[in-house]
Parts: sequence; structure tokens; C-alpha cells
Amino acid sequence: MPASRSALYGQADHDLAPSAPDAAQLSPLVLGSTDIASAPDESFDAVTVRAPAGAAERRYVLAHALRVLTPGGRMTAFAPKDRGGLRLRKELEALGCEVGESARRHNRICLVVRPSAIKGLEEALAAGAPRQIAENGLWTQPGVFSWDRLDAGTNALLQVLPPFSGVGADFGAGIGLLALNVLASPKVTKLTLVELDRRALELSKRNIADPRAAFVWGDVRQNAGGLEGLDFVVSNPPFHEGGGEDKALGQAFIRAAAEALRKGGSLWIVANRHLPYEAILAESFAKVRLVGEGGGYKVFEARK
Ligand SMILES: C[S@@+](CC[C@H](N)C(=O)[O-])C[C@H]1O[C@@H](n2cnc3c(N)ncnc32)[C@H](O)[C@@H]1O
Repeated sequence: MPASRSALYGQADHDLAPSAPDAAQLSPLVLGSTDIASAPDESFDAVTVRAPAGAAERRYVLAHALRVLTPGGRMTAFAPKDRGGLRLRKELEALGCEVGESARRHNRICLVVRPSAIKGLEEALAAGAPRQIAENGLWTQPGVFSWDRLDAGTNALLQVLPPFSGVGADFGAGIGLLALNVLASPKVTKLTLVELDRRALELSKRNIADPRAAFVWGDVRQNAGGLEGLDFVVSNPPFHEGGGEDKALGQAFIRAAAEALRKGGSLWIVANRHLPYEAILAESFAKVRLVGEGGGYKVFEARK
């Protein structure tokens, strides 16, 4: 008999749902993971899912997780009550599962055995799949940052972006909206998009057919792409990790930008007005200028 194969979607929480140490990682937010959509049908005996908060994204992930299970295979899915957990049971029942549910540490934990027929599989997969938005022609997917609307922070930055020149990077580039605007300047010779979410990075490749663009699936905090001597960096940095606010994430992006820029190079960054980035900007850069403020956002230019 072949050894049992198991998979994990998202960070493990062994207290809520045990998972094997050698489980294959299927979350797009973990570097080196396998795309759940490309995993073959019936390829795992057990799957543990840290279910995402967005409804269409969650159903898509649950449907894929059932699809990749062998007949009789088990799935454990969990989510905080207020971030989809209360809907897990119904969603799994709608996919044809009999659900055993328990509660622990404000989470709901659902255990199912793969049903012989997964109900509404195609529909759930289609509802969470990449698609092109008619108005702007951009590729997007439920689950990636601000997937179905223009983010107010991105917009604040777009309003004031100068025409850049030389070699630059977009830290946390999402599906590439900012990057597209940066590349509108013919004086930009190269732009590296660094992004942790593999889905967003793949979508940005579809959105940007420009030979000056380079794409790096990596963590800005670990200097993914080994960038140095840059003329400019643009960033609408993330400030949420695992559902909570994390100002350290934005601060790490600022430090990473300072390291990647040449002397005299500049960082253009947007921040939620209440986030304390001024001190770290002043610490890491020679000159900091508030370029614009409005709609709850501040945009800074920081020169090294
Ligand atoms: C606020 S969004 C901005 C997206 C895009 N630049 C825009 O303005 O529409 C931040 C992006 O950073 C990505 N991200 C989060 N942590 C990251 C990290 N450590 N390294 C690289 N990218 C990260 C997120 O996946 C998200 O796409």
C-alpha cells in the first residue's frame, strides 16, 4: 500500500487541526507551495484547510480541497467564527458533505469525509477562478488584494505619482495596477514587481505584457529578487497579516526599500493615516516629504 499523502492549505494550527509534518502546502501565500488548482483529482488522503475569510475564495478552496481528496479521504477545515467559521458547515453541506462540527478558541472546526459526488463543484470553482474585469480589462481573482475594486490607498498614490525614470520596483505589487501606471513612463527602463501572493503575481503577469517588467514571487522582508541600487520604489504596503493589523509589516517594507535604493533614490509610499510610519521613514531616509493627504491616506516621498 502506498504511504498516505496529506496536504495543508495555509499555516498549520495543530491545536485546532493536526496536520502531517510532511504535508504538501497548497496555499498561494506560502512560498514554494503548489497551486491547489493544479493538484490532480484524488491525489491526497487527508487535507487540512485554514479556510480564508472571503466567501467566494473560501468556497473555491473548499471545493478544490474536496476534489483533490481520494474517495473516503478526510478534510478538516477551520476558521475563526467571525471570519467565515460560522458559515463553514453550511458551505460544506452545500458541497454534498456530512459535517461533524466542533468549536475551539473562537474557531469552528469541520470534519468531513469526501462525498462520492461533490455537489456544485464546477460552480464553486468557476466563482473563485481568475477572471477579466470588463471595465478595465485587468485579470483578477477573489482572494487577491482588493480584487474587485480600486483600493483607496492605491488611488491616493495614483493621484500623485510622478513620471519615474530608471530602474525601480513595486513592493507588494498585487495584480499590477500601480506597476502599469509606473510603466506608462517611457523613461522607466526596468520595474521589478515583488509579491508574496502567487495568485496576484500570476495575474500581474497576464496584466503586464511589457518587456521592462520582471516578476518575483517572494517576501519583500527577505529582499526577494536581491534588489539594490534602485532609482525608485513604489509601494502600497500590506498592513494586515492573519486578520489583525500589523504595522511592523509596513515598517519592514520601508526598511527594505531603503536598502534596495541607491543614494538619492526615492520611495513613494502610501499609508493609512493612522499608521505610524513617520519615525521609521525619518530613521531610514535623508529627506521625507508628505506629498498628499486625503480620504484617510497619506502619501510620502522619502529620499535616501
Ligand atoms: C495593499 S496591497 C497593494 C497591491 C497593489 N500594489 C495595489 O496597490 O493595488 C499589498 C500587497 O502586498 C502583498 N504582500 C503582503 N506581504 C508581503 C510580503 N511580505 N512580501 C511581498 N508582498 C507582500 C499582498 O499580497 C498584497 O498584494
